[in-house]
Amino acid sequence: MITINRQIKPFLKWAGGKSQLIGQISTFLPPALKTGKIKKYFEPFLGGGAIYFWLADHYDFEYAYLYELNPSVAICYKVIQTNVKKLVKELNSLEKEYLYGSDKAREKLFYDKREEFNGFLRRRSANSHLRRAALLIFLNKTCFNGLYRVNSKGEFNVPFGRYNNPAICNEDNLLAVHDLLQNAEVSCGDFEQCLEHADNNSFVYFDPPYRPISATASFTSYSKDSFGDNEQKRLCRVFGELDHRGVSVMLSNSDPKNVNPTDEFFDDLYNGYHIERLNATRLINCNAERRGFITEILVMNY
Ligand SMILES: C[S@@+](CC[C@H](N)C(=O)[O-])C[C@H]1O[C@@H](n2cnc3c(N)ncnc32)[C@H](O)[C@@H]1O
Repeated sequence: MITINRQIKPFLKWAGGKSQLIGQISTFLPPALKTGKIKKYFEPFLGGGAIYFWLADHYDFEYAYLYELNPSVAICYKVIQTNVKKLVKELNSLEKEYLYGSDKAREKLFYDKREEFNGFLRRRSANSHLRRAALLIFLNKTCFNGLYRVNSKGEFNVPFGRYNNPAICNEDNLLAVHDLLQNAEVSCGDFEQCLEHADNNSFVYFDPPYRPISATASFTSYSKDSFGDNEQKRLCRVFGELDHRGVSVMLSNSDPKNVNPTDEFFDDLYNGYHIERLNATRLINCNAERRGFITEILVMNY
């Protein structure tokens, strides 16, 4: 392992973000990454990209293929890749307006910008990706808990977060992300697309939406299309195809055994692969008393 010292942090707070698990995940990285054999990195469920940014700080792979089904998120990465200076300008101006406003003015600003952002989602317009990206970052920093949640019409509906001093524009970090993305392809699309480019010099890390660990803890609505058991099975088939090609593959998910010790869903699905259980803190629960230690699973083909 080398330290390249880019020190990039995710620019979005993202549900299921892997920042807290990096220490544990890093002990299970493929040996081929450590020997420098791996040239291409794939992250097909990109979200906030915590693992991508961490890996880029410690390993010198040549190219990254990044996929995300949520168009606003994919657009945001592309705008940082191609137009970061203008994005920083937009964010600085939103930040000023927010920080200098009274509590009431901040709340009004948040709901106005949420409505403007939903205009993009309703019209599915390709106009002004720059503005859409700026609004996504602004809302992510100022909404309740940095959640991204949409209603049945596909509109972003997370309420105002009441933060005193949110870091809306972290210019240095955005510029560092911009530099890193010069060696990356960002696609708005389904995880299966990784099959187009992955070969035996590749490492693929899958971090799909969690399989709900209880009937009530169903946080899978990053988009209005849910990620159910059939999707988990489709993902397992893609995992198998990559394994067959000699790709190094790692996958994380929630552990159903936390609530039902007899639930063998992932143990059955990935039978024959290397499965580890990591300790995590449950973060997506509005009820603070119900946050606690749970295990998450990590599946590897090496
Ligand atoms: C658990 S999150 C990933 C979190 C990320 N690892 C991080 O550290 O922030 C899963 C992501 O997959 C995206 N997603 C859902 N279905 C997808 C699909 N079929 N193909 C690609 N991405 C998908 C969601 O929008 C969400 O951003």
